[in-house]
Amino acid sequence: MKIAGVIIAAGLGKRMNSPTPKVLHRLCGNTMIGHVLNCLFQLRPQKAVVVVGRHVEEIIVHRASGILFVEQKEAKGTADALLSAIPAIKKFKGTVIVLNGDTPLITSKTLKKFLTLHNKKKDVISILSFIAREPGSYGRVVRDGVGNITSIVEDIDATGKQKDIKEVNSGVYAISPDAMHLLKEIKLNELKGEYYLTDIISIAREKGIKVGAYCIGSEDEFMGVNTAKELERARQLMKGSITKRWMDRGVSFIDSGSVFISSDVEIGKGTIIYPNVHLEGGTKVGRGCTIYPNVRIVDSIIGDGAIIKDSTLIEGSVVKNRASVGPFAHMRPGSEIGTGAKIGNFVEVKKSIIGSGTKASHLTYLGDAKIGKNVNIGAGTITCNYDGYKKHITIVENDVFIGSDSQLIAPVKIGKGAYIGAGSTITKHVPSMTLALSRAEQRHIEGWAIKKLKVKSSKLKVKKKEKR
Ligand code: UD1
Ligand code: MG
Repeated sequence: MKIAGVIIAAGLGKRMNSPTPKVLHRLCGNTMIGHVLNCLFQLRPQKAVVVVGRHVEEIIVHRASGILFVEQKEAKGTADALLSAIPAIKKFKGTVIVLNGDTPLITSKTLKKFLTLHNKKKDVISILSFIAREPGSYGRVVRDGVGNITSIVEDIDATGKQKDIKEVNSGVYAISPDAMHLLKEIKLNELKGEYYLTDIISIAREKGIKVGAYCIGSEDEFMGVNTAKELERARQLMKGSITKRWMDRGVSFIDSGSVFISSDVEIGKGTIIYPNVHLEGGTKVGRGCTIYPNVRIVDSIIGDGAIIKDSTLIEGSVVKNRASVGPFAHMRPGSEIGTGAKIGNFVEVKKSIIGSGTKASHLTYLGDAKIGKNVNIGAGTITCNYDGYKKHITIVENDVFIGSDSQLIAPVKIGKGAYIGAGSTITKHVPSMTLALSRAEQRHIEGWAIKKLKVKSSKLKVKKKEKR
């Protein structure tokens, strides 16, 4: 089936009461329009057109190959928005599917079902409707005595009886390109000062054109977001469906309600996720991992069997199989933690490669470093990578032992198997298998403390006499 998708997203979104264009509000890691576009792409359309308004530049951040953006100069209603898209689909032969940019929960599964019905029944125009518990501001679907749709009546124009109708318009339409000219016959709605796309139904019916309305899918899926309150409700619904999807695929949650997972995240079977975990962006978590409470992982890859301990932030990094990170660790972008490596409490790693089996267990900063395999990095080690102007590299080869409280002043290289004595400040390259020590030698002054005590007590006696 050949389809062209048009997403109308040029409305002012006044009811959001926000400076951000409505369709750019975010939920579960993507904008509303981003979710609708992803859904459209799953239908593999021949063409994808987005109608944008005065916030055109901001919306165009979603530019992906093949999307055509057309501008609706003034927000004069949904019919006028679709009219703006006509030049972009002029030569298209197939079915035009129209979606609202403010229905982020729609699924391609339901849209496919809808398009199949539209084609099977040979309709010229079809709408997708659903039953709403509270029809609120949705357009009501009016049917005749034999059940055929005759019109859609917007809530503000509906009579008391029409307001009671529970079947409402989802804002999803399938239209044959030949029927697009009907848009020009839609008259201005005086009450709202807009041209309603919904009026295409009554116009088509009056002309004897075949029109259908298919009541499929769930109410939640078609939720139209017009206010901040509705956005939060949509977010909660999407959040719930994402965690449910991962539970169905063998992921365990302890208090799933407190966990946030972006729509593009992937999680392997057997992974356990504790409360207040945020998995964002394109994060991929492997199989059999444990993610403890208050962890946030953004755009990162976590290997199979890895353990991420409490209150850890991982951004743009790779944690390989069976590695352990945290508690209270920070992986900054460009870091890679090797297989079985351990990054412990209060350790910050920035743009550094940590070899397999290496341990940095406590209070350490590793920046712009390349650390080999099976290295022991003692507590309080710091790579001094910044001289105030430039960043410099630290290289630590395999099997090195770095004693606690050492500073490695980059650029510097520690050769394979070398030892750095605790408390050293290393400024020169250390050859392989060497012990480097840079601390001052310890001196003992015997009896020094006794002399100090004597001086102190004689001074106290003088003071007491003076007081008297
Ligand atoms: C619309 C439908 C209503 C349906 C509901 C489903 C009309 C008149 N009403 O109402 O029947 O039940 O969606 O959620 O169509 N837009 C433009 N240009 C404009 C105006 C709107 O591109 O000039 C876009 C908006 O950005 C939005 C979509 O069209 O993505 C729907 O507009 P909105 O104002 O949200 O319509 P609703 O009142 O929700
Ligand atoms: Mg709406």
